[in-house]
Amino acid sequence: MVTVESILNKLGIESVNPGACYGADGWITPKEGKRLVSVNPATGEELATVIQADEESYDIVVAKAAEAFKTWRMTPAPRRGQLVRDLGIALRELKEPLGELVTLEMGKIRQEGLGEVQEMIDICDFAVGLSRQLYGKSMHSERPLHRMYEHWHPLGIVGVISAFNFPVAVWSWNAAIASVCGDPVIWKPSSSTPLTAIAVQRICNQVMADYGLDGLFGVVIGPGRTVGERLISDQRIPLISFTGSTAMGRRVNEVVAKRLGNTILELGGNNAIIVSENADLDMVIPAIVFGAVGTAGQRCTSTRRIIAHSSIVDTLTDRIVHAYKQVRIGNPIDENTLMGPLVNRTAVDTMMKALETVQTHGGTIVTGGKELPEHGENFVEPAVVRMSKQTDIVRDETFAPILYILAYDTIDEAVEIHNDVPQGLSSAIFTTNLLEAEQFLSHGGSDCGIANVNIGTSGAEIGGAFGGEKDTGGGREAGSDAWQAYMRRQTSTTNWSKELPLAQGIKFELS
Ligand code: UN1
Repeated sequence: MVTVESILNKLGIESVNPGACYGADGWITPKEGKRLVSVNPATGEELATVIQADEESYDIVVAKAAEAFKTWRMTPAPRRGQLVRDLGIALRELKEPLGELVTLEMGKIRQEGLGEVQEMIDICDFAVGLSRQLYGKSMHSERPLHRMYEHWHPLGIVGVISAFNFPVAVWSWNAAIASVCGDPVIWKPSSSTPLTAIAVQRICNQVMADYGLDGLFGVVIGPGRTVGERLISDQRIPLISFTGSTAMGRRVNEVVAKRLGNTILELGGNNAIIVSENADLDMVIPAIVFGAVGTAGQRCTSTRRIIAHSSIVDTLTDRIVHAYKQVRIGNPIDENTLMGPLVNRTAVDTMMKALETVQTHGGTIVTGGKELPEHGENFVEPAVVRMSKQTDIVRDETFAPILYILAYDTIDEAVEIHNDVPQGLSSAIFTTNLLEAEQFLSHGGSDCGIANVNIGTSGAEIGGAFGGEKDTGGGREAGSDAWQAYMRRQTSTTNWSKELPLAQGIKFELS
């Protein structure tokens, strides 16, 4: 049987931990630190008690990171990549216990917990390669015997504020890339998932110790009101990467913009799949169920809307309802389970309220939507709701397994409904018709950061840039050239002539 004790044992963690740390000998127990209890959302079991960071411990972690920056930025990038390679190796070795800890603390099923750690391993691999590819452009100067080029310098300390739903992977997207870019990282994890953050910090401590370092990776566990606010308003931290709600993201954006800092914002999604009459329904059904029910509908990329051609919408709805009946709900650590609990009671209440509202907005619940107290207080049935039109409740992101089904007649109409929501993270079309697929991917098609054909909305690979537009916040993380946000671009021109010609042909002659 998997118990928290057995997992912590494999990860080498004692049950009580201070909530601030900057290295192997850098655990700080704050004098006034308030206790935070980590709870298994499936069982209500208390997993651990963490003593939260206070302002003083926060300042120590920042000071250590600032110190680490001075040496780390001068370390050659390929050498920085070696440290990240070792982090990836350590994660490979600990994939199972860390994945299971994610399941225990956050409630996603075991397969998804393991998948989350795999995502960490993947981004480490990506970052190692990147450490030899932080390319700058060279330009042709308009002046003779001049060389113009750009290079990328480390930026400084990166503050990472992550959400409960991906308690470790989103940190790793930032941390792996930031560290090959030469930046220390200070992490404020969600207060719902302190234990996984502590486990990851321990792994980082080991890796840092192997390189004779501390301060490169730090963690501060504490309330958003104090630690979070300090982090976002801290002039010493040039970049804040924030994942969470649009409402919180607006606040982060305001505070960081005021001090002219940079942000990467990864906010809400309201992701839809357009199902054309030309779609292969055998492929559509599993994509929809994984997208809508996976992680109990608590991914930023979860499928929240189906926009189906009117000729197939009834058949599709019947097939979705049939598939939903096969979703095995239960303890997420049990290998057989496909859907675990919501994160807490508030999430359940929010879902129930949305379902009440939707019925007064002309929606019909076709399956699910009830609480399942026999499993535990945070368990619900995933819900499917037929809507005659897209109303405000559908435009809102409810972070729960509610799937709205809408119908369309023309592909233009489908795209219009698709884009008529405030958020713009992920999107998909299922069709075997090339013209429809290309229209969806064109300038006038999906307005999201991610647009897929014959693939669902969730489960993106780390190799692409991850993020979205509009209320999603515009940030990009993980693959492609997202690394550029973690560096400072410098444009340089070297004159190797014996003259001093001015650009734009300006003559400025001293007599
Ligand atoms: C999130 O929900 O915040 O694309 C991240 C996905 C995952 C990441 C989701 N790779 O669903």
